[in-house]
Amino acid sequence: MPTSASRTCLAIVLAAGEGTRMKSALPKVLHQIAGRSMLGHVLAGVAAAGAHRIAIVVGPGREDVAAEARRMAPGAEVYVQTERLGTAHAVLAARAALQAPCDDLLVVFADTPLVEPATFAALRAQVAGGASVAVLGFEAKDPAGYGRLLMDGATLAAIREHKDASEAERQTTLCNAGLMALDGKQALQILDAIDNSNVQKEFYLTDAVAVARGQGARTAVVTAPETQVMGVNDRLQLAQAEAQLQKRLRENAMREGVTMIAPETVWLSHDTQIARDVVIEPNVFFGPGVKVAEGAAIHANSHLTGCEVGPGASIGPFARLRPGAQIGVKAKIGNFVEIKASQIGAGVAISHLTYIGDTTIGANANIGAGTITCNYDGFDKARCEIGEGAFIGSNSALVAPVKIGAGAYVGSGSVITRDVTADALAVARGRQFEKPGWAAEFRRAREGKPKQRP
Ligand code: UD1
Ligand code: MG
Repeated sequence: MPTSASRTCLAIVLAAGEGTRMKSALPKVLHQIAGRSMLGHVLAGVAAAGAHRIAIVVGPGREDVAAEARRMAPGAEVYVQTERLGTAHAVLAARAALQAPCDDLLVVFADTPLVEPATFAALRAQVAGGASVAVLGFEAKDPAGYGRLLMDGATLAAIREHKDASEAERQTTLCNAGLMALDGKQALQILDAIDNSNVQKEFYLTDAVAVARGQGARTAVVTAPETQVMGVNDRLQLAQAEAQLQKRLRENAMREGVTMIAPETVWLSHDTQIARDVVIEPNVFFGPGVKVAEGAAIHANSHLTGCEVGPGASIGPFARLRPGAQIGVKAKIGNFVEIKASQIGAGVAISHLTYIGDTTIGANANIGAGTITCNYDGFDKARCEIGEGAFIGSNSALVAPVKIGAGAYVGSGSVITRDVTADALAVARGRQFEKPGWAAEFRRAREGKPKQRP
């Protein structure tokens, strides 16, 4: 297979015009799967397949879609298709992008988020090998609605849209996924030759095949599994795409040496990084931006977003790591512990019922059950620092900004508002006192009197 590495590639992402089946205030392509918009998945996919330039075609007034495109692919050119006259017409809305020279043109749909970079690359490779048009095909379980790939022996002769197809043509199960690659030097001329003489009076991108063949040019088909080319038009398909991507992400993680006891209950993000020999128990959710180092254990029912877990650390069960939580080597974060924007040193134990926010904790400190860092006064956030080897007694409140020196002890139930010196003991609670015999005296005084019901 010829290599595409040295060839320039323009990707045109079609995101104009959508149906109404999502029933949403949000444009369809901004709906997320595995923590990233569908548009984001497609932009990342074409970039990974070597697209040097990306143009996106949006519908009129879709500034939100344009903004997401620029966020995900800075430098993306945005074009507006003012009227929805078909997929070829949409591509030509990016005529200015097409006029600059490129070797390969990739045309992709923003609502088809599961195509793998290798598939885009395979289409490009066909063009590098001399095809003028390379189409992505798949064997459809139910071909109704799809364009059919009409073969002439081993070569692709044309694509017939379902609505335009004869009964015989509709028997074909080899269908058009919608994406294609075209030779960059011929693309504009092929696209300009497409007309709208069909049932829908649309300019079909699919007609690029018949046009190219008519000019004596070569066409090619690349196939992919149906699960990779599925499009999303409603919330049911959105959930199916999510399930499909989750399966792929879990399988990749397990192939790389991650143990999942019940993989179907673990939810990953597109960017979750999990190293070898990590064990993940059932019902764990990973939001975007999580990195877990070798040998860590994520116990059942934990929720992690935007955080780093160090080697050999133990998280949960029932732990919540929020953005900016950095958990050190072999630290232990136990049940009902929430950590946000905090650096937790190596070997630290925070075993039960605790909130740590905007805090730095030195190595081997021990944080007792029910410790709360009071980091917010309703207006500003402030930080706590807890030194190495410090011991915070259970049910303490640390009112930020405050520093606990290395090796210091804080007595249980303290409300700490001032810094504590290293190796000192700080107790900040009412002193215990005792009145001998008080309780017995109290009961005696009430003997024989009627009791109110509790
Ligand atoms: C298209 C293909 C069909 C293929 C199917 C796969 C054409 C003519 N047909 O049909 O062969 O089997 O996808 O799902 O290409 N769009 C615009 N502007 C337009 C029209 C469409 O931007 O004027 C965009 C849509 O937003 C969408 C994509 O192009 O992202 C495909 O359009 P859609 O109407 O869904 O085409 P299908 O009828 O599904
Ligand atoms: Mg469609």
